Amino acid sequence: MTISGKTEIPAVDLGHGVAMPMVGFGTWQLHGRSAYEAVRHALRAGYRHIDTATIYRNEPEVGRALRDSGLDRNDVFVTTKLPPGNAGRARATISQSLTALGTDHVDLWLVHWAPRGRASPQLWQEFLALRDEGLTRAVGVSNYSVRQIDELIAVSEGGRGGGRGPAVNQIPWSPSRYDPALLAAHAERGVAVEGYSPLKGTRLRDPVLAEIAAKHQVTPAQVVLRWHLELGIIIIPKSARPERIESNLDLFGFTLTAEEIARINRL
Ligand SMILES: NC(=O)c1ccc[n+]([C@@H]2O[C@H](COP(=O)([O-])OP(=O)(O)OC[C@H]3O[C@@H](n4cnc5c(N)ncnc54)[C@H](OP(=O)(O)O)[C@@H]3O)[C@@H](O)[C@H]2O)c1
Repeated sequence: MTISGKTEIPAVDLGHGVAMPMVGFGTWQLHGRSAYEAVRHALRAGYRHIDTATIYRNEPEVGRALRDSGLDRNDVFVTTKLPPGNAGRARATISQSLTALGTDHVDLWLVHWAPRGRASPQLWQEFLALRDEGLTRAVGVSNYSVRQIDELIAVSEGGRGGGRGPAVNQIPWSPSRYDPALLAAHAERGVAVEGYSPLKGTRLRDPVLAEIAAKHQVTPAQVVLRWHLELGIIIIPKSARPERIESNLDLFGFTLTAEEIARINRL
């Protein structure tokens, strides 16, 4: 499955006809004019997936950039997140996000962290109800453990595979966090892994990355991002700089060999 725009971006099937582009644009710590400009540039560069959150306080700028881009709303995948402190106000929170974004639905809505460290099945039922009403096309979680995901699957009608567990878990990921057992646990449960802070969490000057980058005539950052894609992990790199926004999406002109992937796994 691919998303066609300027760049053919592979997509993950979240079920219910929802395709999530494997490369998106992260917007944490982007505010005001720079958030607007960065998202505009990302959409011009070919990104068709934007990651925001209520707590990033940039939903109005993301929404304005989206509208000013002239792109069809249905051609851009938009994620936002509920702050755990708003767990008792799910409907009001998504309504505020939709108003700020200037859209009648988002594509993915995440519980940003487990409220007070608990899986919160009741909140999950509200997420599912709001999805069924069409305010979001898919629902998921962020920073959840596999045990917490299992709690949600256990209370969801249909259980595992019934399409009512989390579609996505957005968690920190980078070579130093490589954990094949964690990936396998998500795959077994049908939960897509979306990795955050791929670059922040990596020592980009590592000689192994430099050597692999030189061989493919790309940057170490591109090697790290490509490595995520090779593992099937959705990425949402953030940058405020136009040239980095472009290069962070330019990941489809090379592939990593099994040996290169194994070397990066060991970093
Ligand atoms: N769910 C959660 O709890 C959670 C937590 C953290 C992040 N996130 C999401 O994940 C997104 C990505 O994570 P992140 O923003 O923490 O980290 P990131 O995308 O790994 O790294 C961003 C940092 O790397 C720099 N950078 C970007 N491209 C680069 C390149 N090609 N070469 C060298 N440096 C580069 C950026 O600086 P410049 O801007 O100066 O280029 C910025 O300082 C966030 O924006 C947010 O949407 C979610």
